[in-house]
Amino acid sequence: MSSRLPVAVLGATGSVGQRFVQLLDQHPLFEVVALTSSDRRSGQPYGESCRWVLTDPMPEWAKTIRLSPTTPEDLHIPLVFSALPADIAREVEPQFAQAGTMVCSNASSYRREADIPILLPEVNADHARLVEIQRRKRGWRGGIVTNPNCTSTGMTVVLKALLDSFGVQKVFAVSMQAISGAGYPGVPSMDILDNVIPYIGGEEEKVETEPLKMLGALQHDTIQPASFVISAHTNRVAVSDGHTVCLSIELVKKASLDEIAQVLQTYQAPTESQNLPSAPHPPIILRDEADRPQPRLDRMSGKGMSTVVGRLRKDPIYDIKMVVLSHNTIRGAAGGSIYNAELLRSMGFI
Ligand SMILES: NC(=O)c1ccc[n+]([C@@H]2O[C@H](COP(=O)([O-])OP(=O)(O)OC[C@H]3O[C@@H](n4cnc5c(N)ncnc54)[C@H](OP(=O)(O)O)[C@@H]3O)[C@@H](O)[C@H]2O)c1
Repeated sequence: MSSRLPVAVLGATGSVGQRFVQLLDQHPLFEVVALTSSDRRSGQPYGESCRWVLTDPMPEWAKTIRLSPTTPEDLHIPLVFSALPADIAREVEPQFAQAGTMVCSNASSYRREADIPILLPEVNADHARLVEIQRRKRGWRGGIVTNPNCTSTGMTVVLKALLDSFGVQKVFAVSMQAISGAGYPGVPSMDILDNVIPYIGGEEEKVETEPLKMLGALQHDTIQPASFVISAHTNRVAVSDGHTVCLSIELVKKASLDEIAQVLQTYQAPTESQNLPSAPHPPIILRDEADRPQPRLDRMSGKGMSTVVGRLRKDPIYDIKMVVLSHNTIRGAAGGSIYNAELLRSMGFI
């Protein structure tokens, strides 16, 4: 009998759901025993119902799993990974938490709630303690832990390294976001080919607020957000996977480019997150070529879990500028959620 923890993927047929199925194949701690979708597919075998769009083949074990309805009554399980649309997640995730299941969610529905952490294990592992507060306040036996919006992910890892060493005053961010970030089938090809779409609904607000919560301090059961300001422009571009963000940053304490490079290259996750199966080594990869990072060439660095930084240089308005890349459906979604679950399990919350 397997000693791995039984888990389910909610919304397993979508863009992020498929990544979960791919990344959980042969996972050392978790074994997928159930997959869910919308009701229109319930009861159908995953292999027949899911239009698989990843380059690796669908794992054999997944093909024969019959899609379950997305309700806790149908799944008595300690851990679920949620890749549900936000409106559905808002309704069903608390039902799972109430029923004793830990929900590691990609949806934005609960990220702003004071007692629900937005967790990045290499940044704010200590915020996982908010699960105790949820249990106390809401009477849940399980809990909800979210991972950040996929555009906030890489830039928050970089900002954490800079904040710790120099302090951060202002951030100006311009994103170039992949089409897989809009789910499947996502943006119509007639809209995105030969084009840039300079609007992604709700995205700028998320990029301007989520990093501040993640970089905040947990004090007396609440998070005091970091006090600097972020201005964001978010754009959809004709790239399949990998979100690129151009950052200009004003620091509190002035530093040379060499000092900044040193801080980024040597950044380490908190001890409790360093040796988990999904931990990227190193968390930040600094490239010195003039034309990197590029999504097609660099998004799979560290199995898609590393944050790749390049074009580090002086900024004539702020202090420094750089380009940050991270894989949106791996580090920014499924891989990030799995890393969160590994951390929660090692801390005894699952
Ligand atoms: N894509 C990214 O890069 C990314 C990154 C970070 C976070 N996220 C977030 O992750 C979540 C999933 O995103 P996605 O891009 O994977 O979306 P998606 O491709 O549209 O997939 C949505 C999934 O939810 C299922 N679903 C839809 N309506 C449902 C219902 N009423 N009940 C139960 N299941 C239902 C779908 O099943 P059917 O196939 O049966 O419709 C599908 O499996 C979203 O909240 C998104 O904002 C996405």
